[in-house]
Amino acid sequence: MLDGKKILYSGMQATGTLTLGNYLGALKNWVNMPDEYECLYGVMDLHSLTLRQVPAEFRKNARSLYALYVAAGLDPEKNCIYYQSHVSAHAELSWLLSCFTYMGELQRMTQFKDKAAKHADNINAGLFTYPVLMAADILLYQSDVVPVGVDQKQHLEITRDIAQRFNAIYGDVFTIPEAYIGKAGAKIMSLQEPERKMSKSDENANATIYLLDDKDTIIRKFKRAVTDSGSEICYREDKPGISNLIDIYSSVTGCGREDVEREFDGKGYGEFKLAVGEAVAAELEPLQKRYKELMADKEYIDRVIKMNDEKAAYYAGKTLRKVQKKLGLTERIR
Ligand code: TYM
Repeated sequence: MLDGKKILYSGMQATGTLTLGNYLGALKNWVNMPDEYECLYGVMDLHSLTLRQVPAEFRKNARSLYALYVAAGLDPEKNCIYYQSHVSAHAELSWLLSCFTYMGELQRMTQFKDKAAKHADNINAGLFTYPVLMAADILLYQSDVVPVGVDQKQHLEITRDIAQRFNAIYGDVFTIPEAYIGKAGAKIMSLQEPERKMSKSDENANATIYLLDDKDTIIRKFKRAVTDSGSEICYREDKPGISNLIDIYSSVTGCGREDVEREFDGKGYGEFKLAVGEAVAAELEPLQKRYKELMADKEYIDRVIKMNDEKAAYYAGKTLRKVQKKLGLTERIR
């Protein structure tokens, strides 16, 4: 609880440009969360360092991510949007929690296994302990709810396990967080290989819609989307391509899957793909416009970053001090 409100916490890695998957699986849900929560959103730049970054590009990407959060509709005067690396308590708590996390637990993480296979030349310790830093992010703010896409569910489970383990020894230190996974859009798939998740780092540019793609590009990518045999527009396990497009259309328009099937009953794939492309482009247009304005307003963005960094550091510091005290670390003399 913060000021009597439940706490909602989430964030994204500051790598590359956000995808439609990031938007529909997470960002859009954040914007639509009811007012009853006190919300904090991190630009997760420390997590991004598990892959090599080009410093100047990385700095730009982090800023761009901040602006995208705001452009999507998160008001930085009401939501605490801050940089993870600006609050040193994240790295500190991460170390403390790593002493309460088992190697076996981390070895079971599917994201670690996937990323280790993909980046076999750089399986660094940070990639392995990534979930511990994520647990620290969440637990520092005594978060109640964490809205994420399906792929982060396992990381939420380990966060809960670590928190429960710690609480069992030291008393009620951490709030046990719950994952919030939206009904539609929680797992948007690649437009070219619909059995794989849509991802920022796909080598085939046609597989991913980026939030800053222009209308023509969006429509072209949807027109080229891989679909299944047959011609019926229906949501079925053996039709992963069409099911993915239905999911996208459904989460953009807010219509249920059955409504989408009904709307396109008897219509061809071509017509449906075009409609999905147009709906996505229309959804992203105001966000892109606002994004451009924000990126040009350096003073405003700098001001809200500073204000929110301080706010986040204040809340995080409280939890960190409590944890240090429980563990028996000697208090600083002031
Ligand atoms: P990241 O940056 O990989 O993804 C950010 C959010 O987007 C969701 N997402 C998707 N949802 C649906 N379909 C997709 N294809 C898709 N791709 C990504 C992710 O589930 C996520 O919600 N570890 C986190 C960042 C993080 C974090 C945290 C999140 C660090 N600390 C604390 C919550 C709380 C991550 O890698 O997200």
